[in-house]
Amino acid sequence: MTEAADVGVADPPVADWFDPHAMMRDPYPTYERLRALGPVVHVPRIGRYLLTTHAAVTAAEQHPESFSSYSETNLTMMRAIGGRPMLRKDDPDHGVERGAINPTLRPRQVTDMWSPAFAKNVETWLDHLEQVGPDDADLNRDFAAPVASKNLIDILGFPEDTDVRSMQRWSTDFIAGTGNILDDPEIWARCEVSQAQVDAVLEDLLPALRRRPDASITSHLLEVGLPDPVVRANVLLTISGGMNEPQHMISNIVWALDAHPDQLASVRSGDVDWGAVFEEAVRWVSPIGMLPRETVEEIEWFGARIPARANVGLLLACANRDESVFADADRFDVNRNARGHLGFGNGVHMCAGRWAAKAAVGELALPRLFERFPKLRVDQERETTWDGWVFRGITALPVTW
Ligand code: HEM
Repeated sequence: MTEAADVGVADPPVADWFDPHAMMRDPYPTYERLRALGPVVHVPRIGRYLLTTHAAVTAAEQHPESFSSYSETNLTMMRAIGGRPMLRKDDPDHGVERGAINPTLRPRQVTDMWSPAFAKNVETWLDHLEQVGPDDADLNRDFAAPVASKNLIDILGFPEDTDVRSMQRWSTDFIAGTGNILDDPEIWARCEVSQAQVDAVLEDLLPALRRRPDASITSHLLEVGLPDPVVRANVLLTISGGMNEPQHMISNIVWALDAHPDQLASVRSGDVDWGAVFEEAVRWVSPIGMLPRETVEEIEWFGARIPARANVGLLLACANRDESVFADADRFDVNRNARGHLGFGNGVHMCAGRWAAKAAVGELALPRLFERFPKLRVDQERETTWDGWVFRGITALPVTW
């Protein structure tokens, strides 16, 4: 690749100290060490070449002909959901499936079709939060997760009475499977149970939507004539990413603003809009830490040689803290312009649900939460917990008011 040609090519530095367990606790110190080593770092412990800088990640996303999404070796997502979705394909196949769901996720459609449903879901679960009360409330359990689950039930066209806790469990299991690079058998068992439960829903839903199409993602996938296994794989993909990430962003943002009361005050006074808070938070604590790709052939990338058919990890969360792009990058700052962050990826696979997520979280859930609970704060008497690095977010956020 030309990017590498003028700086000389060598094998990339090796990070033999990389500790996946430390990453689960807090990946950011490791990200800093990795970036300091260079744009490409080899990590034998997880069998991957990691791209660490904003430039190296962005360029890889822009060159799918060299960094393919189709892999025969990196199969965790396929095992987790039992099929190959658009996210693990290259164009033109990817484009056909992506083209099917784009119309229902465009900004206009989100505003007209989905935001009213999202707004209703927010009110339902704000009532629930109030009922749980300021001594026991866990924002993640009692608000963020059920709101994100119900929004996803709506947008997928799943039956009205689908249990929000089931949707939450399916999403969590598929995400755990996709991130299961250490091959934990207990996680695979959970994925199989969740797949069977989603299949039971789809068995009735697909024929019903064929008879009476609607505006949902599932219906749009059927309308373009995709075979049932392809529809199924993409529905399960959407379950994986469509609930977990918005849920994490609701909790992460409440936590971040609580830790920065001056910034919360600027948002509440209207000096900063919620859209800017949302984008900065996706940059600062990106819910998806790493995307997998595979080199098509040996390649020279930013001065480093990567072999053919190598598993490559695009470290979105690490690139989002790259000082050469974001000044004082470790600082959460709602006043910065976070444009260009890689939290939703970049290139042909860039998140299909980003407008839906921004509306659901940034325009509806958070403003209404702070309106309804003006004294909302993190309860320091109870423990806040985080988990994960490939997918990372808050797992418990005790709040009081
Ligand atoms: C804050 C919330 C979210 C974040 C941070 C997020 C992040 C991402 C990322 C990083 C990717 C991969 C991009 C790449 O490979 O370049 C992705 C893909 C995708 N996301 Fe999201 N996502 C979010 C919410 C959603 C929602 C709500 C939906 C659906 C309703 C959704 C549906 C998808 C789909 C279908 C893809 C695959 C796109 C493709 O392969 O072309 N996401 N998302």
